[in-house]
Amino acid sequence: MSKTVLVSGGAGFIGSHVTVELIQAGYEVVVADNFSNCDTTCFEGVKKITGREDIPLVRMDFCDEAAVRKLFADYAIDAVIHFAAYKAVGESVAEPVKYYKNNLQSFLNVLDVAQEKGCNVLFSSSATVYGEPDTVPVTEQSPRKPATSPYGNTKQMCEDFLRDTVLATKGLVKGIALRYFNPIGAHPSALIGELPRGVPNNLVPFITQTAIGKRECLSIFGNDYPTPDGTCQRDYIDIVDLARAHVFAVRRMLDGKMEQDYEIFNVGTGRPVSVLELVNAFEKVNGLKLNYKFAPRRAGDVSAIWADPTLANEKLGWRAERSVEETLKSAWDWEKHLAGK
Ligand code: UFG
Repeated sequence: MSKTVLVSGGAGFIGSHVTVELIQAGYEVVVADNFSNCDTTCFEGVKKITGREDIPLVRMDFCDEAAVRKLFADYAIDAVIHFAAYKAVGESVAEPVKYYKNNLQSFLNVLDVAQEKGCNVLFSSSATVYGEPDTVPVTEQSPRKPATSPYGNTKQMCEDFLRDTVLATKGLVKGIALRYFNPIGAHPSALIGELPRGVPNNLVPFITQTAIGKRECLSIFGNDYPTPDGTCQRDYIDIVDLARAHVFAVRRMLDGKMEQDYEIFNVGTGRPVSVLELVNAFEKVNGLKLNYKFAPRRAGDVSAIWADPTLANEKLGWRAERSVEETLKSAWDWEKHLAGK
């Protein structure tokens, strides 16, 4: 019988791509979301891509403990992937309490029930836990630096909540934290992708919205960084590659292949790409010119960070496969799909 994975925040950008990959790998998925930062567009897209009209969708808030208990009572869950969280770095600086309440309480509720049920937990973490690294690429052994935002702090704290729960339950609960680098792009079907609300904070949605004419001009924040072309370097990872990593991690958990009860993996490509390189690649692969200008540095940005993904490559048997060009084409196809073009 196939195993069931609960995907909290499963209607969002990453959650919807992960749901597709899990279903295509033969898992049953229960999607739960409070739709605080998305609508049903991606969930409908997931049903179309997978041909599965019967995916359970539970509208609920993970901060509501009774609702979390009911969810676990209603479904036999083998593993939970926890995405449900706020994710805007700048907003978290302005509204820290909102971030701490939501991101911490929701995960504590999941852990509380998981330890009662002996359920495995995969936590959606971030490269933000490394802060400004001393050396790049970063490995899982690289030190976690003090968080530069409440958002980053919640990622560090939730990693610790998971580690401590695994320890306390002596491995009855097994845990994996996946540290994502910069997820970009969309599903090749262009039926699911990122739906930023208002002005996008992240680079690629800003690029595609500028290209389609929703924004006048992209500002490249800083061209005086100590990098080859002066713009920041990141490890941009294709969203489908990132989603596939979850399938490998879930399989490792549910097939009893973990070497430790709590494991951490970087999910990145190992390839640094600068903002300018990304803009140039976008223009080239999609055959268009982007209106951009250089602007002052953005507060809180690290100059360069990219992953050493060796551990995930070796232990999960996963590696990122799509080129930046393919990914940037998928991002543009998604933007055009949204515009009805
Ligand atoms: N950038 C621009 N112009 C823009 C937007 C971004 O030049 O309009 C630049 C940024 O300065 C940065 C790069 O593009 O150099 C990437 O910025 P993003 O906002 O797309 O991504 P970040 O690397 O800042 O943030 C990502 C995730 C966060 C996570 C963080 C740290 O979005 O969730 O990585 O790991 F916390």
